[in-house]
Parts: sequence; C-alpha cells; structure tokens
Amino acid sequence: MNEEFPLEPDLIYLNHAAVGVWPRRTADAVKAFADENMRRGAADYLLWMKTERELRVRLKRLVNAASTDDIALVKNTSEALSLIAYGLEWQAGDNVVSTNQEFPSNRIVWESLDSKGVSFREADLSGDDPEAAIIALCDESTRLMTVSSVQYGTGLRMDLDRLGAFCRDNNILFCVDAIQSLGALQFDGQACQADFVVADGHKWLLGPEGLALFYSTPQARECVSLSQYGWHMVERVGDFDASDWTATRSARRFEPGSPNMLGVQALNASLSLFEDVGMAGVEAKLLGLARELVEWVEADDDLSLITPNQAGSYAGIVTFRHRYLDHSGHAALYKALMKAGLICAHRAGGIRFAPHFYSDLSGLNKRWSEVIQAQNIIE
Ligand SMILES: Cc1ncc(COP(=O)(O)O)c(C=O)c1O
Repeated sequence: MNEEFPLEPDLIYLNHAAVGVWPRRTADAVKAFADENMRRGAADYLLWMKTERELRVRLKRLVNAASTDDIALVKNTSEALSLIAYGLEWQAGDNVVSTNQEFPSNRIVWESLDSKGVSFREADLSGDDPEAAIIALCDESTRLMTVSSVQYGTGLRMDLDRLGAFCRDNNILFCVDAIQSLGALQFDGQACQADFVVADGHKWLLGPEGLALFYSTPQARECVSLSQYGWHMVERVGDFDASDWTATRSARRFEPGSPNMLGVQALNASLSLFEDVGMAGVEAKLLGLARELVEWVEADDDLSLITPNQAGSYAGIVTFRHRYLDHSGHAALYKALMKAGLICAHRAGGIRFAPHFYSDLSGLNKRWSEVIQAQNIIE
C-alpha cells in the first residue's frame, strides 16, 4: 500500500474522520483530467459520462443499494440532509428523533423545521444502551429518525440494524449519516433498512470535498418533493428540444444540472482502491489499528478514553482526554501535536485520532511523548 500513500515521512496522519488523504491513483486521475481538459477540452465527454456511471455502480456496491437508480450525486452531506428535510411534507406536531452527539449538519437542518411546528428530540447517548435511548424518544408523532452511523466526536458506533428494524415496525423514516463509516466499515443500506443514506467522499472514502452520496429507496424518495430543477433531472435527459418534461423517478431527480465531473474522476479512482483491497479487509485492518489505539490510551494512566472500548461499539475514531488538561489545555495540545506533524483533531473536548487501514502507528509513541514533554504537562 505504500506506493498508494506516499505521505511525507514526518507526518503521522490520524485525521481521516475530518479530511482523508488522497491515494496516488486519485491524484493521478485528477492530474490526468486537468491535462485532458487543457489539451482536448470536453472532446471525450462520453468517456467522462462512462466514468460517472462507473462511480454510481461502485457507490451502489459500497452501500449495497438495490439499484444505481437509488444513488444521487450531490454536493455534500449537509445538502443531502437539507433536500430531505425540506422535501418531506410536515404536519405541525411532528417530531424528528436523533441524538445529542450529531455533527451540526445533522442537527441544524432539523432544528430549522421548528418554524413548521416540527420538534427535534435528542437522545442522550451516554448510557449503557444508546439505541434504547433513541428508541425511547419515539412516539406516534415521530416521522423520521436521523443518526450518524458513527459519532464524529466520541466515535460511538451505532447499531443501525436495530434502529432500522424499529423504524420499519413503527412506520418511521430512517435516515443515516454514514460519513464516518463509508470507507471505514462495511455497510449495507438494505440490511439496516435505511430510507436515506448520506455521506460526503472526503473522509474515509479518501476522495475530494464537494461530492457526496445521497441514497434513497424508491418509496422514500416518493415522499420527498423537489426543490431544485434543471436539465439533468428529467426523464429524457439530453433531449434539449423537448418542451414537456417529467422528473425522472430515479434518484437523479435530485441532480438538477451539470455533474461535478472533476470530483467524479477523483472519487471513482478512490473507490477503485477500496474495491481492490476489499471492504472486509479494510474494516479488519482499521478495527485492528483502532484497537491498538484504545489499548495505547488505556495503558497510559494520564489518559482517559472517551470512545467506548467494547468491540463493536467503535469504528475508526479513538478520542481521549489527558487528565491534567482542561478544554483550553487540550486546544493547546492539539496545536502542538499538529505542529509536530501528528495530524489529528480536537473534538469532544479531547484529542481525536482517526487512522485508516494503511496507517503505520509505529512512530506514534515517540512523537506523542516528545510533544507531551515539550508541553510541560506534569506526568
Ligand atoms: C457526522 C458528520 N456529518 C456531516 C459532516 C459534514 O459533512 P459535509 O461537509 O459533507 O456536509 C461531518 C463532517 O465532519 C460529519 O462528521
């Protein structure tokens, strides 16, 4: 894998939960596409469309969609969530059930429905049975449950099958923000009975920012009225002379205009890497590295884990605190780690490490100790 990830040797990159690293093949695809645009313009646009179709097939496989018709390409996770929130028909008194650990994209848009009389309920996930806490907030006015498959701060991995089964039994739409698990863990949108799955490609999928998956089942997207229109979302796409039109029934109905072809080239290349390695192998390697990090934190008396440590309840994120540091102390530590080339994030009031399947953790201990000593933190 080293040839695919020629990272600068002094970087220890543990930030895939924020923005991942492009594999070499993705960088090559982008360079080749730039060169082609410069030399030939869009003379081979049909080939670009072929790549776009290939990407949809890869995304279909990645989330185990029933059909590529269920896959739309949108700008980002937040846009997909907004399309859902503002496409559904709400009644005053409806509620949306979620959690108190969601990234703002999966909270703000639902809170904004307050003006329509829709309330947003956040389950506290800190107890022993987080899924039960979510389910307990649902009642006969719950129209939709929306959760992250893996929580961005704590790294808590949700039992999607259990939540999806509850939603199906209770006629509640089930929306999964899968940005923290696609590319990290195997995913099955049909098995977990998701109605909607949304995820940008720039984290674990090792693609560029600005191109996201928006999966919907045919029944679910029937409930979402359209708010964006253009040449690309009609049934007879490409028939520019037609004066009448109907929106296509496929998820392409959510794509009003020209695709992000540069992003398509890049994400398609990144996904080809996951297919070459195999998602089962990626997941096994990543969970092994996450386990190593969990044990590394647990072995240090000065550190305490925020991420739950039972197998099955975490994915690629390991977040922890230093016992001598408060919030601003962690912010300072984070800055010092970044300066020392240990690329990570300051989340959930601690330090978040997020390796990927190809990561090498051998230099971590030394780099960490150097920073801790230089920071003069009492140990
Ligand atoms: C769980 C989760 N959802 C959504 C986002 C943001 O997604 P986007 O920028 O694609 O809207 C993030 C980014 O960190 C995230 O962690």
